[in-house]
Amino acid sequence: TWTPDSFVETTVAELKAKIGDEKVILGLSGGVDSTVAAVLLHKAIGKHLHCIFVNNGLLRKNEFQSVLDQYEGMGLNVKGVDASARFLDNLEGESDPEKKRKAIGRVFIEVFDDESHLVEDAKWLAQGTIYPDVIESVSATGGPSATIKSHHNVGGLPDYMKLKVVEPLRMLFKDEVRRVGASLGIDKELLGRHPFPGPGLAIRILGDITREKVAILQEVDAIFINGLKEWGLYDKVWQAGAMLLPVNSVGVMGDERTYEKCVALRAVESTDGMTADWVNLPYEFLQKTSNDIINKVRGVNRVVYDISSKPPATIEWE
Ligand code: XMP
Repeated sequence: TWTPDSFVETTVAELKAKIGDEKVILGLSGGVDSTVAAVLLHKAIGKHLHCIFVNNGLLRKNEFQSVLDQYEGMGLNVKGVDASARFLDNLEGESDPEKKRKAIGRVFIEVFDDESHLVEDAKWLAQGTIYPDVIESVSATGGPSATIKSHHNVGGLPDYMKLKVVEPLRMLFKDEVRRVGASLGIDKELLGRHPFPGPGLAIRILGDITREKVAILQEVDAIFINGLKEWGLYDKVWQAGAMLLPVNSVGVMGDERTYEKCVALRAVESTDGMTADWVNLPYEFLQKTSNDIINKVRGVNRVVYDISSKPPATIEWE
């Protein structure tokens, strides 16, 4: 019978035999799949695994540094690449959702390609592909592998795509990946993280993206997500996040009318993201969260909660 321990043992032996002392490159996303794949490979080939973790400037607040620290703490050979400016410059003035996604995919490939060239004589590209990714063409799990998969047929093949591919998790379902991660000693909190889309906050800022909007949404999102954790609600929710809407609404401050931003909070229950129900979060929680957001985040004067299920609404707003 399949157990996480036996999977680790067999897979580590197979990876050792297959890769020997050749170098492997892997893109870390901060998500469960790429992390488990990295730790598994690290156990098999140690420092011959070269991980690349790209900051696209569209991650959650403080996410890049804290996840990078966590990776280093696990002993992974990881390089953090802050390409925020490059991504945000390429997104300037773009408000079409698909064009935003394409721009992010293209810049990711450019950055990843540049970085892979710095790893001399690499022979392999490792990916955290899991079984549902293999059967669907577009991954719902986010991260570099999803970005690569949905964009690799655009234009010529980047050089790193000419590497041999190794995908140690491609026969596993998500819950099995989490169990393998636990057996490898990966932090529970990391293994229980909500899915987060590869294009990140770019598709949660409706309309065009500016640095100011990213900063506002990061604050709002952090208050919401930290609140879910403090109230013991985080693990009851499959995915949660905040959307920055492209309309200003009227508010009042002192004697003055203001026109400021409106954010929508979204929390859903789901098993695979294909269908989803909005979560019946306690009113007291919503009340506290709304107050915190409006009091602490400058430029936001209205908070709404999304009570639409999928279908017909999707989880993201664009
Ligand atoms: P929707 O909005 O389609 O989302 O109901 C379903 C799941 O997919 C994620 N999602 C994406 N993930 N790149 C990704 O890597 C994308 O462009 C993308 N769009 C949506 C979404 O966060 C949810 O988990």
